[in-house]
Amino acid sequence: MVKSITYIKRASQVVTVKGGSKEPKRGQAMSDIGIIENGSVIIEGGTITFVGSDVEAEQYISTIDGKVSTIDASGKVLTPGLIDPHTHLVFAGSREKELEMRLNGAKYIDILKAGGGILQTTTSTREASEEQLIEESLKRLNRFLQYGVTTVESKSGYGLTLEDELKQLRATKRLNEQHPIDLVSTFMGAHAIPVDYKENPDEFVRLVIEEMIPKVAEENLAEFCDVFCEEGVFTIEQSERILEAGKNFGLKPKIHADEIVQFGGAELAAKVGAVSADHLLQASTEGIKQMAESGVIAVLLPGTAFFLMEKPADARKMIESGVPVALSTDRNPGSSPTESLPFVMNLACLTMKMTPAEVLTACTINAAHAIGRADQIGSIEVGKKADLVLFDAPNYQTLQYNYAVNLVDTVLKSGKVIVE
Ligand code: NIG
Ligand code: FE
Repeated sequence: MVKSITYIKRASQVVTVKGGSKEPKRGQAMSDIGIIENGSVIIEGGTITFVGSDVEAEQYISTIDGKVSTIDASGKVLTPGLIDPHTHLVFAGSREKELEMRLNGAKYIDILKAGGGILQTTTSTREASEEQLIEESLKRLNRFLQYGVTTVESKSGYGLTLEDELKQLRATKRLNEQHPIDLVSTFMGAHAIPVDYKENPDEFVRLVIEEMIPKVAEENLAEFCDVFCEEGVFTIEQSERILEAGKNFGLKPKIHADEIVQFGGAELAAKVGAVSADHLLQASTEGIKQMAESGVIAVLLPGTAFFLMEKPADARKMIESGVPVALSTDRNPGSSPTESLPFVMNLACLTMKMTPAEVLTACTINAAHAIGRADQIGSIEVGKKADLVLFDAPNYQTLQYNYAVNLVDTVLKSGKVIVE
């Protein structure tokens, strides 16, 4: 069979983000994005086999046999496919009424405590069939792709019964099979206390630990376990028990930490050896220090802060303290209804003062580490999967200088052009 070769020729810049596949990038290394001016990339059978200058690429291409399709990348920037390491992708229904409630002064967490918010989405998700969940979520995945996102983490947590959590996770598995975007699955049965357990939350924690986690692991439906550790939701002690139980079944811990009040979530993330702690708007200085020491990745969600009209996390303090930072949309129906990771990247610059280079690291290699995929994706290096995005911009700074516009020109997934 003739080998198919894709030759991405002479991009004005190739942002390789190289050198971070073993460990996530921290501190100064987050600014080192390995730019090649007038760079080319060659892909053979879905894998990157050459990255370098246009001159070297011409030499390399003359040494290999196969059918070459060439993409003229002149005047454009090539980056790794963007990676979103934190979403609540699979759900049914919508919550637009909450905007007016919040504009009138209601707080996000109070809407939840009154039985709305996550619990409202839980009701509509329970009512939906697996097929309906797939149909709804496919639309969201299609939009992600248009924004240059090629891998998405997806959490359960709108079922909150064994059967409904399994339904959400099975839908995720089928979406992964059906859609070009790769999905990484997280079990988040501990997303809210269901109304019928309000008086006895520990009984729900028992259900998560003794019934849900073993079944999710047995059916191999998730790689990670997450919990909404927050005042009025799951306590530090309950969160720790849940994450440790997940670990016993091979589910790696993640945590929604210190989003609304300073609660000790960052410290707990360090204690349990979480892969990532996410949100962190109110994380303590001590918690940040412990995260840096334990190598916990901070997944920051400036779109959520923007949408909830809150002050975002202190990204500068985290980067300066040596915490590896990743970014995500947090796509969900209540606190962040968007698939635009590029807009979240704009917000990271404009509201958290991350530099354009740090932002690119955060949405590629560091995001790949946050979902355990840094050996395969997240940088443009020989041997990695050819998930790539061409942006209609002459340099990487332009991606952050233009805001809330979509500069995606072409998306390649495993070397195949899927958006053009
Ligand atoms: O990450 N904070 C908790 N969970 C989600 C929101 C989910 C929802 O409101 O439906 C978040 O923001
Ligand atoms: Fe979330």
